[in-house]
Amino acid sequence: MDTAAHARSFGSAAAQYARARPGYPDDAVGFLVPPAARRVLDLGAGTGKLTASLVARGLDVLAVEPSTRMLAQLRAALPGVEAREGTAEATGLPDASVDAVVVAQAWHWVDPERAVPEVARVLRPGGALGLVWNVRDDSVGWVRELWALARLGREGEQEQQMDAPAALAAPFGPLERFETAHVHVTDRAGVLDLIASRSYVIVLPEDERARLLAAAADLLEHHPALRGREEVAVPYRTLCARSRRG
Ligand SMILES: C[S@@+](CC[C@H](N)C(=O)[O-])C[C@H]1O[C@@H](n2cnc3c(N)ncnc32)[C@H](O)[C@@H]1O
Repeated sequence: MDTAAHARSFGSAAAQYARARPGYPDDAVGFLVPPAARRVLDLGAGTGKLTASLVARGLDVLAVEPSTRMLAQLRAALPGVEAREGTAEATGLPDASVDAVVVAQAWHWVDPERAVPEVARVLRPGGALGLVWNVRDDSVGWVRELWALARLGREGEQEQQMDAPAALAAPFGPLERFETAHVHVTDRAGVLDLIASRSYVIVLPEDERARLLAAAADLLEHHPALRGREEVAVPYRTLCARSRRG
């Protein structure tokens, strides 16, 4: 898998991403951001899914994101938020300028050898790094079947690890973990957008992508658990980890 190409792929499905991807439950956001934090950096902010929850908490939020098209969606949705182009390895921010850094659904795209020192540099001493992922809940039959279908032909490929590493390098202390669950209510078109905005689907040749999305649409229309329903409830597990800068 060409990780860099996958990491760069999101921009071409930015609108689908903004429509289809879920936000993050409140208890997860509460776990990720220390109570005393005021200035928070949302790193790899994408279209602003987590940014919106941080703003709703009254935090002073700065969004950094490498994709100009994802940033355009974020700026349209959250015009009051300071949003800049940058990466986890090179944020472009001053030293010790934020109380917390949160990275939603994006730490698996970064190079930790360069991102850990960069995050440590921009955090004030005692500040915290929070990582979060929404992962599909495979205990639900149609979810399992749909994603098995979406990965047809790529069985040998390793799926990107959507979970926190066992530990972060110094100056970060041990990782504390928290897991919660939530349901994102959408419709069939929303679930198709969800699949279409996965990096490994975005980078497929056009004919393969069209075939995959047609098969997914067929499953969504005919699966006994979904047949005749306007709304589709997509279940997620939300995996969180946080660590203090020593
Ligand atoms: C799955 S999206 C998550 C976006 C957003 N945080 C959310 O929760 O919806 C992954 C994001 O990571 C960004 N990304 C990829 N490589 C990155 C890097 N090295 N540093 C920061 N962000 C990166 C992508 O452009 C994309 O917006």
